[in-house]
Amino acid sequence: MSSEKRGMHGIWASRWTFVLAAVGSAVGLGNIWKFPYITGEYGGGAFVLVYLLCIFSVGIPVMMAEVLLGRKARMSPINTMHQLTRTYKAPKFFAGIGWIGAVAGFFILSFYSVIAGWTVYYSLEMMTGYFVGIEAEQAGETFGALLSDPWVLMVFHSIFMILVGAVIARGVHRGLESSLRMLMPALFVMLLILLGYSLTLPGFAQGFDFLFHFEPEKLGTEAILVALGHSFFTLSLGMGAIMAYGAYMPADSPLGKTIVTVGVMDTLVALAAGLVIFPIVFSNGLEPGAGPGLMFQTLPIAFGSLPGGVFIGTIFFVLVLIAAWSSAISLAEPAVAWAVEKGFSRVRATVFVCLLAWVLGLGTVLSFNHWSDKQFFVSVTGSSETSEQVYEDFLLYADVAELKTDLGETGGLQYNVAGKTFFDVLDFLTTNIMLPLGGVLISLFVGWFMTRRAVADEARFRNPQLFRTWRFMIRVVSPLAVLFVFYQGLS
Ligand code: TRP
Repeated sequence: MSSEKRGMHGIWASRWTFVLAAVGSAVGLGNIWKFPYITGEYGGGAFVLVYLLCIFSVGIPVMMAEVLLGRKARMSPINTMHQLTRTYKAPKFFAGIGWIGAVAGFFILSFYSVIAGWTVYYSLEMMTGYFVGIEAEQAGETFGALLSDPWVLMVFHSIFMILVGAVIARGVHRGLESSLRMLMPALFVMLLILLGYSLTLPGFAQGFDFLFHFEPEKLGTEAILVALGHSFFTLSLGMGAIMAYGAYMPADSPLGKTIVTVGVMDTLVALAAGLVIFPIVFSNGLEPGAGPGLMFQTLPIAFGSLPGGVFIGTIFFVLVLIAAWSSAISLAEPAVAWAVEKGFSRVRATVFVCLLAWVLGLGTVLSFNHWSDKQFFVSVTGSSETSEQVYEDFLLYADVAELKTDLGETGGLQYNVAGKTFFDVLDFLTTNIMLPLGGVLISLFVGWFMTRRAVADEARFRNPQLFRTWRFMIRVVSPLAVLFVFYQGLS
């Protein structure tokens, strides 16, 4: 039994400390920045419904499986998967889960840090009162100016990465536990205050309706793929972050209840963030489909006109920063824990991981300015009103600005050019491919290769019916759901 087993990295003080750390990892930019903006892009209610379905039928069951693996072996994800693959005589490629995860962690950390840097910038701007009385147009320009300056982006990206490194180097265990105990409740209180404010806005009903009004015709395959990918992203699944945290979880904590708590808290924060942001959007006559700039262009407008807005706005962005910070730590933890097991000091391992992610992050920095026209997976479609002629082309890489000039000369047709920047590619590759793939492999491993007995002993479900249901979910439902969505997405 694993109850006597302790890894070299230590054990959380209690089950609640695990919940705190896991919620700290799960609640981040994904909830407050990304969820509202993708909901806006994919048309609201229909997307939210699919997202909720994904969280409860795939995300939470997979999370239980991932934590179970970590707690079983009590090592870094890479070594955990090595050992368990041998113990249960599974095909060797399952050991790759740990490696895919570490790479995905680097990728995500690299762009996560750039965007978290924006929250550092906005916290400072809020504090100085810059946004007081600001108009929608000005707020948009401020954001645009930030994105177009690679040096400023790099400075804030660096500040955030140093913050992350400083905590990891000291040991997540001691550094995190005490700070999270204060910061996470503060985050919840702030969200409640903001929710109270948004309830008083004229656009609240419209915002609420946008989030919860189900219009099935708005739902495409792409939206389903995005919802599934996001349910993995927001729960920190599929790359070993939650496996690493599971490795420090007390052996006698019931898996089911604990993980459901984490999943529900994460979902509530995302919905609350939507209920704060959309009423503000509609009350100011702004567009919900603004994309990544939603939080940075719309919220400052509201804070600028709110009594005490300087104070509340500052606290808000500081707390988003804290949420991002506790998440970023979990992105680096699997790689750092592995290096420590290899014999590196924690400080060296941290410097190495953070430096590498920082360098990769420069690509994301440039995606918003110098490289914004350099795009991958570019699809070109042309149509004209007078003729039936439709033109279609797909390029692996293109300079979109040049392409548009070239196309302009051939004339006659109306061209639509859409591609992905370096940042978009990293985001797509990790969120929509690597995380779901990691999740499927984890499910298949726990569902089909570990013995039922070993899984039952480790999971400690009190209710046998619930255990059977969960096991069915990870054996059949989540692999099929992910494979179906992959198949649809690729065809
Ligand atoms: N879940 C975090 C968020 O929503 C991001 C995150 C932290 C993450 N650790 C992860 C995403 C591991 C994927 C995998 O912001």
